[in-house]
Amino acid sequence: MKAWQIHNFGDADVLSLDDVQKPELAEDELLVRIRATSINPVDCKIREGKFPKVGKEDLPVILGRDVAGEVEKGNSNFEAGERVFGMPSTDRGTYAEYIAMKPSGVAKIPNEIDFAVAAGVPLVALTAWQGLFDHGELKDGERVLINGAAGGVGHLAIQFAKQAGATVFATGRRQDKQFLQELGADRAIDTDNESLDVIGDKVDLVFDLLGGEIGKAAWQHVKDKGRVISTVEEPDAKAAGKPGVKTAFYLAEPNGEQLAKVASMMKDGSVKLTVEDRVSFSDIPKAQRELENAHTQGKIVVEMA
Ligand SMILES: NC(=O)c1ccc[n+]([C@@H]2O[C@H](COP(=O)([O-])OP(=O)(O)OC[C@H]3O[C@@H](n4cnc5c(N)ncnc54)[C@H](OP(=O)(O)O)[C@@H]3O)[C@@H](O)[C@H]2O)c1
Repeated sequence: MKAWQIHNFGDADVLSLDDVQKPELAEDELLVRIRATSINPVDCKIREGKFPKVGKEDLPVILGRDVAGEVEKGNSNFEAGERVFGMPSTDRGTYAEYIAMKPSGVAKIPNEIDFAVAAGVPLVALTAWQGLFDHGELKDGERVLINGAAGGVGHLAIQFAKQAGATVFATGRRQDKQFLQELGADRAIDTDNESLDVIGDKVDLVFDLLGGEIGKAAWQHVKDKGRVISTVEEPDAKAAGKPGVKTAFYLAEPNGEQLAKVASMMKDGSVKLTVEDRVSFSDIPKAQRELENAHTQGKIVVEMA
């Protein structure tokens, strides 16, 4: 099968379209023919050698963390021909024609959703869901600040948090303000022009998708005994400067049950994925450059020919 691999770390030029073996299936695994995938920042971090779980000794590796496709070899839960989406374990990639998937990591795609849109969902939805609810313990009536909310993770996090009954403060660039409001943010904050002080009273949860100085600035807005959860770095409890604050950095895990809940919210229209761009499989290097260099709202998705 064809797959985009890296043999060395570097910029998007190191991506190589290779002929590789079709995956072998472990017991009970599904063989999925990939119809679409998506581009995530972690793909670029792995490619650059900046993701600690993938070292030089692991190369070559196939990149890509999202899959939407058709089951080619099924099991008792998923029949051949069924449309599924999911995130694989970290030892396999989705910039390829086929993938072996553990059934516990996939869910059915609703008929109303096409493969490309479905492929934009798994990693960012699982990250948003697990960050807000599993680690962030967000509850009805609480206040949450989502920092860096116009991208893949954040734009779904706004919608999940609103569905859960939270008041949502969401930060973005100047051009994102209207987008964040349309997604349901109660207060959209343009960090190019506004101070986070517009939040007023402290929040129960800071969900930080940016890190660095802008992350630290956001952590200051958590209340005593609140939570600061980050997708990018271990938050420093002292930097948050409050007694009893729970802090966590986490890596999203495959979870078919959570994806099935997201699928049903997409089916009833209460959650929508925003697609910034649809590209073809042959344009994956260009799409990675776009994610790295251009401002995106939502996701860049990749359709197989
Ligand atoms: N731990 C995990 O399991 C996990 C899972 C998924 C993602 N992540 C990480 O979480 C981060 C977010 O992921 P993502 O998929 O949402 O990325 P994304 O789609 O690139 O979105 C990031 C968003 O934040 C915006 N942004 C950057 N600097 C900003 C600032 N100073 N103020 C306001 N907005 C700003 C970006 O705008 P520009 O495009 O203009 O920069 C972009 O809209 C990435 O670092 C990713 O690697 C971690």
